Amino acid sequence: DWTPGHVVDDLVESIREQVGEDRVLCALSGGVDSSVAAALVQKAIGEQLTCVFVDHGLLREGEAEQVETDFVEATGVDLVVIDARERFLEALAGVTDPETKRKIIGEQFIRVFEQAARDIVHDRGDEQHPVKWLVQGTLYPDVVESGGGEGAANIKSHHNVGGLPDDLQFSLIEPLRTLFKDEVRQVGLELGVPEVIVWRQPFPGPGLGIRIIGAVDADRLAILRRADAIAREELTRAGLDRDIWQCPVVLLADVRSVGVQGDGRTYGHPVVLRPVASEDAMTADWARVPYDVLATISTRITNEVEEVNRVVLDVTSKPPGTIEWE
Ligand code: XMP
Repeated sequence: DWTPGHVVDDLVESIREQVGEDRVLCALSGGVDSSVAAALVQKAIGEQLTCVFVDHGLLREGEAEQVETDFVEATGVDLVVIDARERFLEALAGVTDPETKRKIIGEQFIRVFEQAARDIVHDRGDEQHPVKWLVQGTLYPDVVESGGGEGAANIKSHHNVGGLPDDLQFSLIEPLRTLFKDEVRQVGLELGVPEVIVWRQPFPGPGLGIRIIGAVDADRLAILRRADAIAREELTRAGLDRDIWQCPVVLLADVRSVGVQGDGRTYGHPVVLRPVASEDAMTADWARVPYDVLATISTRITNEVEEVNRVVLDVTSKPPGTIEWE
């Protein structure tokens, strides 16, 4: 019988067997998957776990703070925060190809982790129990879509599965790799992870880096962050969070169109709203967000984000579109 309680018991037991007395690091992103994975491992091995949150600068507004305060308060995990924003921006400078972006972000991520592991071992002087394990919140659909499943095509390199360097210095613990998202949420609730985290919509590991079509830089990130915050705020205000699987906001950074504002001509960028309905992200339909909600989002974004003069709606299902544009 599938119950969240049984799943938790089984996973806790196998995590304990797997790691023994070793130290474990967890890649915390603030999303549902890594949060539930961390809570699960925390339940299994408690103080042997250190969570590391890499601020790669590709996060949405308020996300770093939510991890640094909300999650830590709720779970009591040991958290190390690493500010790697400059490093990621430098590595991504001028890169436009989606798979190259994903590989760069994934690789930087692992390098930062490896350094964190060395620092943690060094700081604690606990050479007998080196950090051997890295927890990742990989789900079943990630495994399949990164080509890990039998006969699956490599559609995108999800940065928590594909794109890992060959000389990786950790062994992976992926306790959620047989589960779908709805199952992960049930497991999270069973573990006492707060509902605001359990019900958070999915957000990709490479973050806003794959929602800027074109090269990523600090200015473009700031534009997208503001537009995204407005869209999220209005969707929440309309009570649509649980009806919509997620709503990527995508900045077409290399596209410009002519507009008019007040008495003047504008020549700004479009953003795309990509609201989708889905069960498991393997397939999706475009979500029928009410027109008045779309109108409010469009008006606010074009009024409040100076560089954006056009808001367009993506009405493509998956397949043939993927949810993210890159
Ligand atoms: P696509 O774009 O492939 O996305 O239809 C399916 C789901 O996966 C999320 N996504 C990712 N999640 N690392 C993640 O953890 C990634 O690299 C990644 N890429 C896409 C996407 O937001 C959607 O929910």
